[in-house]
Amino acid sequence: MKPTTAMRVPASEERVSIHKPSESKPESSLAEEVRTGLTAVPKTLPPKYFYDEIGSDLFEQICATPEYYPTRVEHGLLEDVVDEVVDLSGPEVIVELGSGSSKKTELLLQAVLSAQPSLRYVPIDVSEKALVDAGERLARRFPPLTIDALLADYQGGLKHECVREEQASKLFVFLGGTIGNFDHAEAVELVSTVRRQMGDDDRFLLGADRVKDHETLHQAYNDKRGITAQFNLNVLRVINKELDAAFDLRTFEHRAFYDPKLSRIEMHLHSKLAQEVPIRALDLTVEFDRQESVLTEISRKFTGQGLAQLIEEADMVIERHYEPENRYFSLIFARPA
Ligand code: AVJ
Repeated sequence: MKPTTAMRVPASEERVSIHKPSESKPESSLAEEVRTGLTAVPKTLPPKYFYDEIGSDLFEQICATPEYYPTRVEHGLLEDVVDEVVDLSGPEVIVELGSGSSKKTELLLQAVLSAQPSLRYVPIDVSEKALVDAGERLARRFPPLTIDALLADYQGGLKHECVREEQASKLFVFLGGTIGNFDHAEAVELVSTVRRQMGDDDRFLLGADRVKDHETLHQAYNDKRGITAQFNLNVLRVINKELDAAFDLRTFEHRAFYDPKLSRIEMHLHSKLAQEVPIRALDLTVEFDRQESVLTEISRKFTGQGLAQLIEEADMVIERHYEPENRYFSLIFARPA
């Protein structure tokens, strides 16, 4: 039988679109945020700038280290609960914040597409390479899938018409524990932004890392092979490249530790010596004291109660709270209050 036009399955590349909502904005926000962070006391840098091609690759390598348990634990947990999540949400659209390689999301896409004939996937990420690679792979693996990828940060992506559009039932997902990069107020703000995009039948799936023994937490951010150290230092390479700066990566040192009072990992870069670093695109020279630190990332670890409070403050209610026996990680399945 000759295929008719109506029966023709679009080629995989025809089912992937990469949207760049803020075409010219990304560099200017890098410039502004680097200026603000490196002239502040104490110095800070936002973690989203780790993820250029090299940084995204280093992060994938971190996920494969024996010390970094969150990826494996969350993946195993999602395998166990994915059918119920899909059953309870029955999404026509999956919107994912910080999709990265989309490896865990494959479990969700697979489960949805074995229950229904089609699905639209809207991954939001700051790494173009990650969106393109994952988009091509997923479109090939899942012929009924349409992908509208958004190259944007979370707030930028959530405003896009691909997310706001239509009355289709949606599942919003935010996996990996990246919610931990935000302090409480910022996390409430972000989850509230998701909430404002949700209709009554939409659902939210959130992955969050849990408080646990300090040694396990410490090791996860201090792997023996030093991949996390390279990942941390990579932000300086990104600034060298994007802002014509002159950081010598050999003069900075990776430090990561668990702060039990704030229930969070803090990741820092320490200057090994007193030095001045020009950032030419900013017309700025940054002075570092010997041992001065730059805070490059916080990674909060949650209690069950802390997660309940976050969800409540964002005007949602928890429908299911999944955790493994050792409570190393949580998947929260929530709906509008
Ligand atoms: C991608 C933000 C979830 O906080 O554990 C891993 C990033 N930093 N090792 C985390 C990260 C150092 C990761 N998140």
